[in-house]
Amino acid sequence: MDLGKIKKLQAQNFRNLSSSVFEFNSGINCIFGQNGNGKTNLLEAVYLLTNKKSFRKNTGFSQMIDIEGGQPQIILQSVFEKENDLSSYSLRITENLEERFLNNTPEKTKTPSASVFINPFDSYTFHTSSTFRRQWMDSHIGLIDREYRQILGRFLKSMRFRNSVLGMGGKNESTQLRAIDEQVSEYSSILTEKRYDFLNQLNKFITPTFKAIFAEENTLQMNLDSIFTHWDAKKIFDFYRHQESADIKAQMTQVGIHRDDFIFTFNGLNAFEFCSLGQQKMAFLSLIFAYIELFRYKFSSYPIVLIDDVSGELDSRRWKNLIEYLETKNFQVLITTANENFGKELERIPNSKKFFIEHGGLKTPG
Ligand SMILES: Nc1ncnc2c1ncn2[C@@H]1O[C@H](COP(=O)(O)OP(=O)(O)OP(=O)(O)O)[C@@H](O)[C@H]1O
Ligand SMILES: [Mg+2]
Repeated sequence: MDLGKIKKLQAQNFRNLSSSVFEFNSGINCIFGQNGNGKTNLLEAVYLLTNKKSFRKNTGFSQMIDIEGGQPQIILQSVFEKENDLSSYSLRITENLEERFLNNTPEKTKTPSASVFINPFDSYTFHTSSTFRRQWMDSHIGLIDREYRQILGRFLKSMRFRNSVLGMGGKNESTQLRAIDEQVSEYSSILTEKRYDFLNQLNKFITPTFKAIFAEENTLQMNLDSIFTHWDAKKIFDFYRHQESADIKAQMTQVGIHRDDFIFTFNGLNAFEFCSLGQQKMAFLSLIFAYIELFRYKFSSYPIVLIDDVSGELDSRRWKNLIEYLETKNFQVLITTANENFGKELERIPNSKKFFIEHGGLKTPG
C-alpha cells in the first residue's frame, strides 16, 4: 500500500464545496468554520479519494453531488506526495460510473494513500451497538487487509443467499443449503482467524497508546466473542447441518459470525458496562490511534488522520493531551472544529496550517 500525504485538493460539484484549492501541509492542518459550512465535507472528499468510499452511511452519488450545481458529475482533483515524489490523482463520479486517474492514467485499484476517520461522536454508538462495533471492525480490518475485504464481501453475499433460500422454503432447501454452507463455512473460518489475528496485533498497541495520549495507567484490550473459536471449515459445516432444521423453521440463519461481537475491556472489566462516558471516549480514541500505529507497523508509514470535531467530547485537559500527542507524531492530520475554545487551543500549535471555511470555500483571513 502506498501511503502519501495530500498536498492539494480541489472539488467540483461535491456537496457544498466551492472550487477553492486547498493546500495542506504535511503535519497538522486545522480546519475552522461555523456549523454547516463544509468542514466535514472536506474530510469526506479526502476519505473518498483515498479509501474509495465515504465514511457517511448510506451515501452515494445522489447525496454527494452538489444539489445546487447544474452539472451531472463530481470531480475531485488532488496532488499527493510520497518521499518527495508528487503524483496527481483524480476521481470522476457520475450517476453510473466512477473513474480514477493516477498521473493521468486510469487506475482501478491503487490509491495514493489511505485515511482513518475519527468522529468522537461514534464513541457512544460504538459502546452501545454491537452491530456498529462489528461493522467498524470489519471496515477497519478491511482497510489494511484486502483479502479480508474480499472474503467478507463474498461471505455477506452467501449469507444473503442463504437467508433468501430459507425465506422461500421449498423441497430442495436442504440440498441448496449444503451447497451454500460449503462456502459459508470456509469464509467463516478464514474471517474468524483473521479477526483473531488482527486483534492480537492491535492489542499490542492499545494500552501503550492510551498511556501515551492520556497519561493514565489502564489496561485496555479488545476481544472477540466468537461462536466459532478457531473452528475449521469442516466443523462449521457440521454445525450448520446440526442447525439446519432450526434455521428452516426460523426461516433465517440464526447463528454465525455475522452475529459475533467485539468486547472492550478496561482493566479487565467490560468497558461497555463499566466505563463513564469520558472513559469510553478516551478508550475509543485510544483504540483508533492504536489502529493508526498498527497501520504504520504494517506499511511503514502512517495513514492520513482525519479528526472531525473532538471539542464537544472531552474536557480541556484531555484536549490538550490529545493535541500534544498529535504534535509528537509525524502523521498528517486534518482536524476540524466549530468550537471557539478548542479552536484557540489548536491555534497555539506551532507549524500547523489554519483554514477558515465559509460556504464551502476558503475564507481569506482579515
Ligand atoms: N449534496 C449536497 N449539495 C449541496 N450541499 C450539501 C450537500 N450535502 C450536504 N450539503 C450541505 O453542506 C453543508 C456543510 O456540511 P458539513 O457537514 O461539511 O458542515 P460542517 O462544517 O462540518 O458543520 P458542523 O460544524 O455542524 O459539523 C451543510 O449545510 C449541508 O446542508
Ligand atoms: Mg461537521
